[in-house]
Amino acid sequence: MGLAQFFQELDRLAADSLEAFSRAQDVATLESGRVEFLGAKSGRLKDVQKQLGGVPPDERPAAGKRFNEVKQQIQSAFDSARDRIHAGVTQVPQAHVFDPTEPGRRQRIGRRHPITQTIEELKDIMGRLGFAVADGPEIEDEWHNFEALNIPRQHPARDPLENFYLSVAGATGNTVRLLRSQTSTVQIRVMERTPPPIRIISLGRVYRPDTADATHYPMFHQMEGLLIDRQVTMADLKSVLRMFASSYLGTDVHIRFRPSFFPFTEPSVEVDFQWNDGWTEFGGAGMVDPHVLQSVGYDPEEVTGFAFGLGIERLCMRRHGITDIREFYKNDVRFLEQF
Ligand code: PHE
Repeated sequence: MGLAQFFQELDRLAADSLEAFSRAQDVATLESGRVEFLGAKSGRLKDVQKQLGGVPPDERPAAGKRFNEVKQQIQSAFDSARDRIHAGVTQVPQAHVFDPTEPGRRQRIGRRHPITQTIEELKDIMGRLGFAVADGPEIEDEWHNFEALNIPRQHPARDPLENFYLSVAGATGNTVRLLRSQTSTVQIRVMERTPPPIRIISLGRVYRPDTADATHYPMFHQMEGLLIDRQVTMADLKSVLRMFASSYLGTDVHIRFRPSFFPFTEPSVEVDFQWNDGWTEFGGAGMVDPHVLQSVGYDPEEVTGFAFGLGIERLCMRRHGITDIREFYKNDVRFLEQF
């Protein structure tokens, strides 16, 4: 047999075997391929090897070299097919074996939102000052959000651009409702159903159509306070707010009132706290307006009181050095898990 013919035989063998092994998908096909090409007794590789003897002696070294190369090729084609099929087999789920020496798997436990944590702490502080917690709805009517708070129909605070109005369908037609723009609504609800004296706080969401930026968000939280009794004065208001501020922010906090206007308090003030550096406004306050006391059936000659409303996000931001209110509502755990 000439060298050229021997090479031809080898090439055909290589092509056939590489194709067979690359197609093999299961152990049985792989095994029949192994017998056909690599079989020790009558495999095709063995047959070709026998023909090596028929090649003229001077061409035998070249023939032997080529033979060994092809043998290598076929062997590694078989090996990779075997690995591939074996890997597929091991993906079949194995029965779970319980290994008591394996380390345990730690459960990731969530935590309360920083605003919720702040609300709990504020309730605690005010509770120690004798204030009970009251609640009110977030969807309000105009009486509780405006009218009873001495905010008449033509007042700019009732502008549709300043509020989230809702139209609620009912049996007798549509009724105007709105997402409450302040927690002062709860003052009215509590006074309507409770005779004086009163000493409550109410903490919850309020809504205003503001564009979100570092200091504004269309939804935020307020803490409302209301104290009604005989002979309550502005000095009581200031004492309560000072005690509150030094409990929440620190004993070195200072408090300042700036004259302001709210329809439901007279006089009215803006409340600023100073802590570490500069003054920051935290909300509004004042002595409850006699009109408001009358609207809930109280006698302004008998009782007086004060009210205040503070921004909860702002308190929490000041305490923790948070500079952007939007962080609270991005739901980024990297931010939230710091609290
Ligand atoms: N409701 C006022 C506001 O949202 C705050 C306030 C509450 C002012 C109570 C006076 C008394 O800005």
